[in-house]
Amino acid sequence: MREDPGAAKINYLRLSVTDRCNLRCRYCTYWRDWRKLPSGEILRYEELLRLAAIAAEMGISKVRITGGEPLVRRGLVDFIGKLHQVAGIAKVCLTSNGVLLEELGPALYETGLRHLNVSLDTLRRERYRQITGRDNLAAVLAGLERAASLGFHPLKINCVVLQGINDDELLDLALLARDHPWQVRFIELMPTVSQEWWQRHFLPLSEVLRRLTVLGPLMPSTCSPTDGPARIFRLPGFQGELGFITPMTGHHCRTCNRLRLTADGKLRPCLMQPGELDLKGPLRLGLGDGLLGYLFREALDLKAGNAASPLAPSHHPGRSMISIGG
Ligand code: 5AD
Repeated sequence: MREDPGAAKINYLRLSVTDRCNLRCRYCTYWRDWRKLPSGEILRYEELLRLAAIAAEMGISKVRITGGEPLVRRGLVDFIGKLHQVAGIAKVCLTSNGVLLEELGPALYETGLRHLNVSLDTLRRERYRQITGRDNLAAVLAGLERAASLGFHPLKINCVVLQGINDDELLDLALLARDHPWQVRFIELMPTVSQEWWQRHFLPLSEVLRRLTVLGPLMPSTCSPTDGPARIFRLPGFQGELGFITPMTGHHCRTCNRLRLTADGKLRPCLMQPGELDLKGPLRLGLGDGLLGYLFREALDLKAGNAASPLAPSHHPGRSMISIGG
């Protein structure tokens, strides 16, 4: 149990299903040092399903599938279908870069999946290539259109704000939420590549908010349980909403309700702290559900300790985002 009675209940698990990605985003990883995991180190789908069931026993009711890029892993659609069947998992969500969404959207929708977050940091082709290393903007936009017409909802756009790279596009990105019933979420850059790069490109969201006031009065929206750490605003004439996620300037451990499972089976109580608890080793040694549940409980207790500890100042995940899944 968390010692702090006012702290959020931990009911949300982010599941990284792969460390592979079809993009090479500048802000995600120091790619020169990056080595993909040997495939035997990555949890198999049966293992993930078993851990999801144990997590559900421990109070997890929402699972978000992340990566790397989840859609590059073969068999993902089938896995998502099975995840929906796990008792106690009431909500399954997916975070994707959208590159394969046009192709896989219909099959994903068929599994019952509705909650979709798509990363999109620019609407300009050359800039997209500069940020992601790939010429895939058209594919992502087509994927979004397909997802919208299939009926995915809520559909959220994740936009990492990069001073000097995309900060002249904030209005255009925000206007996506005027023209579509989407939630456009601006995210503060975290220092996952290098401190220097972060210092050069970090822009606090207070400044983003200030620049967006030309769009009209931003009205705080009542938070829904799916909002996570985002602060949500509505604007007159907008079909969708704007969201602001401030891991650097506004993080509150007390309201954090999530655990993360890395692609290689490490349970991480906190994104900003390097501490991890290995589940894959015990799982592959043949431990029963009871003992695995006990380990899970350990991670929850670690996190409960976190609520009172000064861990936020670390502000660095200690491994690259591609292996944690954001
Ligand atoms: N800072 C902020 N957000 C990041 N993401 C990846 N790396 C960073 C970073 N350094 C985001 C992606 C994606 C989500 C999974 O994590 O944009 O939307």
